[in-house]
Amino acid sequence: MKKLLVLLMLVMFCGSALAEEEIISLPQPVKTGGLPLMEAISLRRSSSNFQDTELTDKDLATLLWSAGGVNREDGKRVFPSALNTQDIIIFAFTKSGVYRYNHDNNSLTVIEHGDYRNYGAVQPFGAKAAVVLVYVQDVAKWPEKVPASLEQKKQAGFSHTGFSMQNVYLYAASQGWGARTVMSMNYEKLPEILGLTETQHLVLAQCVGPLTQE
Ligand SMILES: Cc1cc2nc3c(=O)[nH]c(=O)nc-3n(C[C@H](O)[C@H](O)[C@H](O)COP(=O)(O)O)c2cc1C
Repeated sequence: MKKLLVLLMLVMFCGSALAEEEIISLPQPVKTGGLPLMEAISLRRSSSNFQDTELTDKDLATLLWSAGGVNREDGKRVFPSALNTQDIIIFAFTKSGVYRYNHDNNSLTVIEHGDYRNYGAVQPFGAKAAVVLVYVQDVAKWPEKVPASLEQKKQAGFSHTGFSMQNVYLYAASQGWGARTVMSMNYEKLPEILGLTETQHLVLAQCVGPLTQE
């Protein structure tokens, strides 16, 4: 009886937690056009003179798809991952909120309403970038049957993030925007804001968006 009661409470709790999740569908990303690849590579650089603005939903969807979207029928993504662990979660911080990118169905889960960009990137330019992407690795995604140390798993996570970030750099160059990788995140507050579990850890952040004329 006691077990049944606990189970019922658990179901009710999970039910209410699920009901509270706010999901935003994104428009289809633009997967064609842009600058020729070699020109985008030529323009790749780190900028910091970001315009304090917001992207359109279409641009946000395209940015996130470039960063970590699905590009094949089998669910694989625009960046590679060791053993196809797909262990990277991408969060987007904008002027209006903090969102988790759901690459499998091209949507956002609202984590927080409000402007937390300066937590994603603590340097002054971070608070201005249209989007601050925060990359989190979930080491629990590593398959148990392949033994690896935490250090090896983390090395793989940095590499996966690097591939994703380079896509973002190139997409930004193609758009005439800027981007900048940063490790200057608020390591104390971010895990709390993002609700990270013990197996999820911060990797890096990346500011991206239109620039001022400077
Ligand atoms: C792993 C990594 C961490 C970085 N962290 C910061 C940072 O915290 N703050 C910053 O202003 N730039 C940061 N950068 C940007 C570098 O300063 C920049 O890439 C470097 O000066 C070379 O310039 P470029 O990207 O234009 O070639 C980081 C870059 C990388 C790859």
